[in-house]
Formats: sequence, C-alpha cells, structure tokens
Amino acid sequence: MSKSKTTFFCRSCGFESPKWIGKCPGCNQWNTFSEELKPSKSVTAWKKSGRKIAEPKPIQSIETAEVQRLQLSDDELNLILGGGLVPGAMVLLGGEPGIGKSTLLLQVALRTPIKTLYVSGEESDTQIKLRAERLGIHTDQCNILTETLLENILDAVEREMPELLIVDSIQTLYSEQLEATPGSISQIRECTGKLLQFAKENDVPVFLIGHITKDGSIAGPKILEHMVDTVLQFEGDRHHAYRIVRTLKNRFGGTQELGIYEMNGNGLNAVKNPSEIWLAQREEVLSGIGVAVVLEGVRPLLLETQALVSTAVYGTPQRSATGFDLRRLNMLLAVLEKRCGFRLGQQDVFVNLAGGMRLEDPALDLSLCAAIMSSFYNQPLPTKCVFSAEIGLSGEVRAVQRVEQRIAEAQKLGFEEIIVSKYNKIQSGNHSGIKVHTFARIEEVFSWLFG
Ligand code: TYD
Ligand code: MG
Repeated sequence: MSKSKTTFFCRSCGFESPKWIGKCPGCNQWNTFSEELKPSKSVTAWKKSGRKIAEPKPIQSIETAEVQRLQLSDDELNLILGGGLVPGAMVLLGGEPGIGKSTLLLQVALRTPIKTLYVSGEESDTQIKLRAERLGIHTDQCNILTETLLENILDAVEREMPELLIVDSIQTLYSEQLEATPGSISQIRECTGKLLQFAKENDVPVFLIGHITKDGSIAGPKILEHMVDTVLQFEGDRHHAYRIVRTLKNRFGGTQELGIYEMNGNGLNAVKNPSEIWLAQREEVLSGIGVAVVLEGVRPLLLETQALVSTAVYGTPQRSATGFDLRRLNMLLAVLEKRCGFRLGQQDVFVNLAGGMRLEDPALDLSLCAAIMSSFYNQPLPTKCVFSAEIGLSGEVRAVQRVEQRIAEAQKLGFEEIIVSKYNKIQSGNHSGIKVHTFARIEEVFSWLFG
C-alpha cells in the first residue's frame, strides 16, 4: 500500500510542518511535534460530496429505544460496566504489566457464548492457547489473531464481523500509513481512531488493553482516554492474589462500582465476599491491629489496618506507610501528639493495609490511629470492634458517608461494636445486633479504649 501523506503538528499550539522539528517555531516548546495523517479531502469538498449533514432537532423528538446490553460471562465486569456492554462501546482496560489484563479479557472471550475475536500483538498463538487451556475453553466461537498491523487487523475484523473485539494491546499496534513507531502518540491515536470508527459503524463493542506508565496513568496521549467510552483500571499488587477493577470513566453508567478478583491457578475468579479476605488470618489477639470499615466505590469492606510503633534507634524517627498516604499518616501522628499528648517524636511508626490494598477512604483514619496507639501501649484493641471515622486536624472525629451501610456490613461479618462519629446521623433501632458507639473527639475514643 502506498504511503499516504503525513504531516507534523505541534500538540501544544497546532503549528504544522512537513517534517519533524524539535522546537516549535510557533510556541517555542520542545518535543511537541507528532506525526498525523494529512486529511485527504478539504472540508468543503466533503460537504459537496453529498454526505448527509446532521440537523438540529428538538430533544423530545429523539427516540430512546432501550439498548440491549451484551451480557459477558463475567458478572463483576457486567456490574462495573453498568449492567453489561453497550453495542459499539469502546472500553479501555489499563493496568500494570503482569496484573492480569490479558487473563481477564481472554477469560471473557473464552467464556462468553458469542463470536469474539481476540487480537494479540503481545503473545504468540501457542502462548495464548496454553493460557486458554489453563483458563478452560467454554466456547467454540473464540478466534485468535496475532497481528500488529492495523490495516490487516481491520481486514480480518471486517471479514469475520465478530460480536466482540478484544485488542491486546493498543500500544503494540501500528498503521503503515504513519512512520512513527508502535506505541508512539500518533500511532496510538490513529489506531484507536480507526478501531473506534469500526466499533461505532458496526455496533461492535471493543475492549482495548492499555499499558500504564510508571506514574500510573495510561501510556499514550490523554486523548486516548477521551476517545473511548469507558476507562477501567486494573489495580492491585502483582505479589498478592487480590485485584480490583475500577471504573475511571463511564459514558454508560456510574463510576462507583468495582470488581474484586482473586488470581489463582485457573485464572481470575470474582470474590463474592470481599470483606472476609482482608480479615484476621491469626488466632491470638495482637496489639497494633484495628479493623476499619471502608467504602470502595459503593461497597463497604472490612479491612485490617496494622501499625508498629517502636523506639527510634537513630536521630530521626522513621515513618513508613504501605497502601496509605504517608503525608496523611504524618498528619495523623501530629494530631495524636498535639491533641492526645502522646510523644511519638521518638518512635518509628510503620503502618500497613492488609492484603496489599491501597485506599484513600478517610474513614481509615480512626482505625489507623487506634492501631498505632494499640501498638504504642502494646495493648490489643477489642476484637469484636471496628472503626469508621475521619480524624480532623483538631482531633475531632468526623462523619463519614453511608454510615448505615458500613454498620450493616460490620454486623453481617459478626462484629459486635462499631465506633463512628457523633455527627453521623444514625437511625437508632436499625442496628440491633451491633452496638454503635459515637464520639466527638479522639481523646474520648482513647480514654474509652485504653482507660
Ligand atoms: P497477564 O494476564 O499476562 O497480565 P497482563 O496482561 O496484565 O500483563 O498475567 C497475569 C499473571 O498472572 C501472570 O504473571 C501469570 C499469572 N496467572 C496466574 O496466576 N493464573 C492463571 O491462571 C493465569 C492465566 C495467569
Ligand atoms: Mg498481557
């Protein structure tokens, strides 16, 4: 195929140049040029070509036939997509290498009883087959294509007309119309654009797998995230079995849902009862452990927060937080020091969230503070007690969202007491099996806990 005309544009100011230049003469920025296909026709020529132009119409006159969503084999995915996959939707799944992106989508391809095409630019046929055998092949309608040239992929896709297309990964594809290397901004943009066009014209849903960069964002232009309808993020620690799929953007549903999976020998399995997995894997009562009720999306979860306080050997005490924001830990320590009079300045403090979880729910605060104090005094916290409250800078115990749901989850898992903020509006009488203690200040919580 002959090469089409390409041109270079400055991503910052739009300056056009026939060849690549390092510094843009328009805005004086460096390295902002990327290669793009030259539009084949001018806009006026396109108008003259007689193509139908959309007319404005009253909103009441637009018909909304209920879209039939495609149900995937994976209920967690259906849930986070907002009740199944919308025809023609393009979903981007991002995540670190080795987290299980290929596994998850191959599993979908192998288990959903519709015609799917799994395009892989990363692995060979045999590698995919070996993996498929581990996962279990439940359909004879899954086709595999190992190819990275976009034009060949589009040919195959148009010939096969699958009902679901999966592309692993968008960064490996390239179009022969551009000279840029696969994974470059212009290639990613071009390939996504063409696949999107295919998806919309044929109402075929497309899953794209995307790599992420070191700082955790999806590699490639931000525009990739704007182009697709849904962005899912696969999170978790490669060394732990539990994985979370979260929606960052969804044009066809909310972004609060999340799916929790466990990776084991036969692929990723949905975790039905997530709270149980993060709880006590120990027999005796230990100090330095507090259980928090946090919200992940809209789901309440119970999670063990662990702390270790020990005398600092060297001058500056160490502070370390795994799964929790270190700056927030420093803030909590300062609050404990100022409001509760604990001298933590001479102590090393380490905190950790169980199971390799990484969370930001402020409701973790109280549980972490309690774990820290429990380790400091070497006195275990009551075993059947959970915490769910934010701590403010002046030591106030602040209300958290959806407290009723959190209390209900704690009760379901057999906890007998929960500590929340006095400012949470709680319908008394709703919670008969669990005792709800409310406090306004952190000092009060500690005098109740440690006497
Ligand atoms: P993979 O899905 O290839 O991750 P990604 O596409 O995000 O890079 O790999 C997932 C990891 O999970 C891999 O290291 C092997 C492991 N794994 C299992 O533990 N069990 C399984 O059944 C499969 C297929 C993979
Ligand atoms: Mg992969």
